[in-house]
Amino acid sequence: MEKITQDSLILLLGRTKKYVLKPVNFSCEFGSYDLRKLVGKPFGRRIKMGKEGFVVVKPKLQDMLKKAKRGPQVILPKDSAVIMSVTGCGPGWKVVEAGAGSGFLSMALAIIGCTVHSYERRKEFFEISSGNAKKFGFTNIKVRNADIKDGIKEKNVDMVMLDMQNPHEVVEKAFNALTAGGWLVVYSMHIEEVRNVHEEIAKHAFTEVKILESIHREWQSLGGMSRPKTFMLAHTGFLTFARKF
Ligand SMILES: C[S@@+](CC[C@H](N)C(=O)[O-])C[C@H]1O[C@@H](n2cnc3c(N)ncnc32)[C@H](O)[C@@H]1O
Repeated sequence: MEKITQDSLILLLGRTKKYVLKPVNFSCEFGSYDLRKLVGKPFGRRIKMGKEGFVVVKPKLQDMLKKAKRGPQVILPKDSAVIMSVTGCGPGWKVVEAGAGSGFLSMALAIIGCTVHSYERRKEFFEISSGNAKKFGFTNIKVRNADIKDGIKEKNVDMVMLDMQNPHEVVEKAFNALTAGGWLVVYSMHIEEVRNVHEEIAKHAFTEVKILESIHREWQSLGGMSRPKTFMLAHTGFLTFARKF
């Protein structure tokens, strides 16, 4: 079992509350605990603050995203999961992404082992995304404060992922950067953008072109009566996929 170090990020998982933090002297509404005592001990310990019990575990992606700083609109795990399932991306993949934004997609791809080369043209969002990568210890996310329209430096890329305004203007550059069999993925909020991207895709040697939308409807079960929740997140974005051949 992996041991906690003084640089570890830990999740205190309680019944109603959770905290992501470093091993520090910690206080919350339930009481306090000097987490520095846990350094050198394996993850998985149970501690008490007042009457409340917590288990000390390694944070997963969803815990990190809750604590990450947000700038522009982010790609949610329900959409990054579709990107993973369609492309099969995983350990060792070289991914180019624009823009980095808040770095939510970068972290989702990095945690499964991709190396993410992310372009972000706005300084304030470059700082948010690179700050999040640093805070959660992702050494396989490399954010560059640059406009992707000025060129993609990486070659033989396994996936180019675009979540930015006017992505159709980057399709040709993405095509040239991709390795044979590599994927172009575009996340667009509006269908007009999807159409523009399709027109560009048609000009290049792409195959396996598809558009997907991921709609999640959560259910509730109260007092033995079960039904879909009244409100849902109706739309995030369309995902366009195309594979270089
Ligand atoms: C919606 S956000 C991306 C969010 C990101 N996918 C996430 O999950 O956190 C779009 C970002 O693209 C950036 N952007 C727009 N055009 C760009 C370009 N040509 N090159 C690099 N970044 C660009 C914007 O500054 C903005 O931060």
